[in-house]
Amino acid sequence: MQPKHRGQWATNLGFILAAAGSAVGLGNIWKFPGKVGENGGAAFIIVYLAIVLILGYTVMLTELTVGRATQKNTVGAFRQLDRRFTWIGVLGVITGFFVLSYYSVVGGWVMKYIVTYLTGGDFGLSHEGYFNQFIAKIGEPVGWHLLFMAIVVLVVLKGVSGGIEKVGKVFMPALFLFLILIAIRSLTLDGAQEGIRFLLRPDFSSLGVKGFAAALGQAFFSLSLGMGVMCTYGSYLPKNENLSKSALIICGLDSLVALISAAAIIPAVFSTGADLGMGSGFAFISLPGIFEKMPAGYFFGLLFFIMLFFAALTSAISILEGTVAFISEEFRIKRATAAIASAAAMALAGIGYSLASGAVNLRAPWFDFVNGWHMISLATWMELLTDNLLMPLGGLAFCIFAGWMWGVKNAVAEVEQGGKFKFYLKTMFSVSLKYICPAAIVIILFFTVGLGIG
Ligand code: PHE
Repeated sequence: MQPKHRGQWATNLGFILAAAGSAVGLGNIWKFPGKVGENGGAAFIIVYLAIVLILGYTVMLTELTVGRATQKNTVGAFRQLDRRFTWIGVLGVITGFFVLSYYSVVGGWVMKYIVTYLTGGDFGLSHEGYFNQFIAKIGEPVGWHLLFMAIVVLVVLKGVSGGIEKVGKVFMPALFLFLILIAIRSLTLDGAQEGIRFLLRPDFSSLGVKGFAAALGQAFFSLSLGMGVMCTYGSYLPKNENLSKSALIICGLDSLVALISAAAIIPAVFSTGADLGMGSGFAFISLPGIFEKMPAGYFFGLLFFIMLFFAALTSAISILEGTVAFISEEFRIKRATAAIASAAAMALAGIGYSLASGAVNLRAPWFDFVNGWHMISLATWMELLTDNLLMPLGGLAFCIFAGWMWGVKNAVAEVEQGGKFKFYLKTMFSVSLKYICPAAIVIILFFTVGLGIG
């Protein structure tokens, strides 16, 4: 298909907001604070930020560059640059399938909380009990999940700049402001000091290699990397876009939101004495607890979950967009048909995640060198498979392809078409793309499988 038939971002700001909208999502607010809690606090945060800067930035810029150079969906992009690497695009589409299937389930939980607040905000005896009882149901969470997926399809069908840019422009600044307010309240709760210490005083002994693997997976998930989403978004960019700067802004914004959500959630977890190992339930348990202790907290809670919904929506949209661009361009199928068919398949897989989160003991086989083949919860399996295996593998493939096959020279030349590529960024990118990224990802992946993460 000719580039002129494809959508393009209406404005530069529209692109940044959409890409940041893809990055900022449940990963920052639902996953990140949980990972910080499980992996020892400050030390994890430091490793995470280093990974974002060195590996995340490089993979982000590589994806945007490959996309813009070819102006094609991820599969088409690789086919055009080097046929032998088409599989990297296909791997991305497969990863996206699993990610969106479970992402939509959690998006459904957010909708449930909006309705809970709308109907009086009654959480019964405890926030923890409320959440655990809800996810252990069969029909209700599945229903919310299907509704969430349907909304994602509707927005994607409105096309690139029409649907996605508009949503991004409104919610992003608002979410930011809100998180800061919540963080202030959380940091001033009784007993928050303990949590603040946890966030500021690094204790590397509690991190371990598992912490590194978790940080890598989290970074890829949070920055929407390794599955061609950023590549697809880059393909809708005009040549005059300054990619090196855009990538920096997106990585920066995403990390900022993650840090603020940790500052909002962790002190509250300490203040209520909740279990740090509980992980990703924090957002649904600790946050309502903070709102309860705020003036007009009911109203805050409602608005917050509405914003979280939009954050999740813009991320989900980006995943489906990658798949739809692939199917509609490669097989010449209508966008509408492609969107509905792929979302339906993802929704089906998501039902498995929803049930495995509490109602039914669904399990799947997982392999590592310590435990060999063993069964783990299907819900954990889906997250491990994508965050800790497929996304880093996809990122690795992008780096090896761009660094060694397409060539650093070509990549840099494409970046420079859009304006200045600062010397230190260019140097870091070139070295990182070719050597540091592939080596670091291989090592961390090795330990993921070698040490039995999960
Ligand atoms: N980055 C998104 C988040 O943090 C999730 C996502 C992953 C979006 C992969 C697109 C691709 O919520």
